[in-house]
Amino acid sequence: MKLKDKSIVVTGAVAGIGAAITELFVREGANVIAVDKQEERLMEMCKTLEGPGRAVAFPGNVALQSTTDGMIDAAVAEFGTLDVLVNNAGVMDDNTAVGDMSDEMMDEVFAVNTFGPMRAMRKAVNTFFELNPDAEEDDETIGSIINITSVGALHQTAGASYCASKAALLAATKNTSFMYIHKGIRVNAIAPGGIVTEIPITMPTADEFGFGRTSELLVHSSLLGMPEDIANAALFLAQDESHFINGAVITVDGAWTTF
Ligand SMILES: NC(=O)c1ccc[n+]([C@@H]2O[C@H](COP(=O)([O-])OP(=O)(O)OC[C@H]3O[C@@H](n4cnc5c(N)ncnc54)[C@H](O)[C@@H]3O)[C@@H](O)[C@H]2O)c1
Repeated sequence: MKLKDKSIVVTGAVAGIGAAITELFVREGANVIAVDKQEERLMEMCKTLEGPGRAVAFPGNVALQSTTDGMIDAAVAEFGTLDVLVNNAGVMDDNTAVGDMSDEMMDEVFAVNTFGPMRAMRKAVNTFFELNPDAEEDDETIGSIINITSVGALHQTAGASYCASKAALLAATKNTSFMYIHKGIRVNAIAPGGIVTEIPITMPTADEFGFGRTSELLVHSSLLGMPEDIANAALFLAQDESHFINGAVITVDGAWTTF
């Protein structure tokens, strides 16, 4: 078991990448607070997961501070500690270029993809410190954060809102890693390429002009990955063996962005 007894929070746990991460982590012995806005599916999923670890459902919207604070408190209350936060929940935009982008789209995408994860990081970091008051400078890891960003943070695979929200999360990853370099907190990001999930079903109708522009990038890769490909990268980052990986962005995209 690679994550035996670790206390982990995973957001967006019901579908796609978050579901694969939650299943794999529970199989590897972790206890997981599984967070999602789809309450019924979340309850069902948590009942059916097979251990040795377990998943506790925490229904909520990561755009709300009550959820991002509450899910971290729930991990400490249920499992007695907090080891890892995985900020995975995210939404696509409608592929609009900035000139056609609505305020509503920009606000919604940043609320879920950037502000929620940053509030969750704030709460997690302060919880790591509270739980480890005696940790020495440059001592062992007291906590780890994994942010699921996107190749869209650096390449134009979606509209202005989505790409900017993921680039901001990437910057927050590196900044947080740098700030706490001597404090035992590791912060890394995974940048998935095209992964087969439910995200195309839930994304808003694509803007014709913007989608036409981003579609040009698809010719560089016909490869699609599976959610388990991202879950395996997250498993590696969640393990103590990856202790020297900090402030990194791991691209998992089947070489899409090598052009
Ligand atoms: N699928 C891809 O090709 C791809 C590529 C790059 C990055 N990503 C990123 O990976 C992450 C997971 O995406 P996915 O493809 O698995 O999507 P998905 O739609 O299959 O799953 C997303 C999950 O997050 C939940 N969720 C969405 N908004 C939420 C909110 N406000 N509060 C709580 N839960 C919420 C959904 O209910 C769902 O269970 C996202 O951050 C996404 O941007 C995905």
